Amino acid sequence: MIRKATLSDIKKINEIALKENNNFEKLFHLETEINLDYAIVLVYEDVEIKGFLYAIDLKDNIDLLFIMTDDKYKHTGVASLLLNYLINNFVLNDKTITLEVSKENINAIKLYEKFDFLQVNVRKAYYNGVDALLMKRGIMKDVYILAIETTCDETSIAIVKNGNEVESLTISTQMETHAAFGGVVPEIASRMHTEQITLVLEETLKKSKINIKDIDAIAVSYKPGLMGSLLVGIEFAKTLSYVYNLPLIKVNHLIGHIYANAIDNKLSFPLLALVVSGGHTELVIMKDNYDFKLLGSTLDDALGEAYDKVARVLDVPYPGGPEIEKLAQKGTPSYNLPHPVMDETYNFSYSGLKSSIINLVHNESERGNSINKENLACSFQTVAIDELSRKLDLALKNTGITNVIVAGGVSANGYLRTEISKVCDKHNASLSIPKILYCTDNAAMVGAAAYPLYLKQDFADYTLNAESQANVC
Ligand code: KG4
Ligand code: ZN
Repeated sequence: MIRKATLSDIKKINEIALKENNNFEKLFHLETEINLDYAIVLVYEDVEIKGFLYAIDLKDNIDLLFIMTDDKYKHTGVASLLLNYLINNFVLNDKTITLEVSKENINAIKLYEKFDFLQVNVRKAYYNGVDALLMKRGIMKDVYILAIETTCDETSIAIVKNGNEVESLTISTQMETHAAFGGVVPEIASRMHTEQITLVLEETLKKSKINIKDIDAIAVSYKPGLMGSLLVGIEFAKTLSYVYNLPLIKVNHLIGHIYANAIDNKLSFPLLALVVSGGHTELVIMKDNYDFKLLGSTLDDALGEAYDKVARVLDVPYPGGPEIEKLAQKGTPSYNLPHPVMDETYNFSYSGLKSSIINLVHNESERGNSINKENLACSFQTVAIDELSRKLDLALKNTGITNVIVAGGVSANGYLRTEISKVCDKHNASLSIPKILYCTDNAAMVGAAAYPLYLKQDFADYTLNAESQANVC
């Protein structure tokens, strides 16, 4: 039977506990603690005391400190019965239970999962160098994050539920305006964000049928990007946070691109993330949420930047990447272009390839020869993506990781998607690439990236400022 412990049980409880933690008696003075009105000390008794549970009952949450079973009775279901008793007798309505458990204690984790505990955070090196999982059980209220993205030339706001369901998303693009100038004009971009942002908010709320009072947090991209553009989003986010008394979450835009893969999906760790955007080309290992290790990055131009520069040389309208892709589809790789250095590092280099195309176009025009744009676009794309595939292949081979995600604007490219999936097939690795809508800049990815920070209560204050430069880690 299970009952509340009394003073006469303390000796036996300490005996059981000392076998697992020889400091237990010093750390926990159960003789006094048992009488505190918020302490829950339960014992399982069947002829003798076979196990005990110790928890602290706070107003909205029970903090479960220990469930311990006597060595002789391990694996007889004592822990499960104690936990069940706690839930049935002490957990009312929407009271939650939290606990910490060693990442290596697989049996305990399984037990907690059986009782609907979810992992909400990791405490690094918590038990003598071993990570602890923070687990939580209870009515996990749906979390709605209103996310704002204004890093470059898209004004976007989204409402994202639980980090993976997009309730509503609005993207107001300034592409046409900037196309007239052949690229983004920062001053125009920030002015247009200012004009658009309240309209975008109104539309996002209207489409979602969610009242702003039901929102749990405001998230915003704060780096990297154009300073003026970033500031419009950040100040708007701070205002909403202040007026509606909601926590503010700051999101690195590149990490946002990575978390676009969490939308309608669950990330499986460890994974290799290939980030290919207008400003970045990075290969990153993720062991867990927000646990990043950089394997390699571009030494000069980013892949998207190379697409855009080649587009400019070929006199293709802005934005260059998608236009080069369209041309390439109609061509063959007939031009002989130099491959980037074939080294065994995880770094990339695209400036040599770009320069060779600039020289080639220049020389042919001097000679009065015309360029076959389709074939040149196809030749460029073949070499550029081949380099990406080769480095991913190397990383999969050397790390043994079997999950791959691709992120950033260039992941919208069809040829890249096909080639990367061939590499993953070769290594039997799973591959996730966001839907095209979530590949390029959008606020849904910012909401997805903000969710793990919301669970960790990792909130920003009103000193938050924009930063123009940043990497994933
Ligand atoms: O991630 P993103 O939207 O913005 C940044 O954070 O940089 O990426 C924009 C980049 C641009 O360089 C654009 O030309 C490229 O992504 N891009 C593409 C394609 N769609 C966008 N590049 C090649 N093929 C595409 N289909
Ligand atoms: Zn981006």
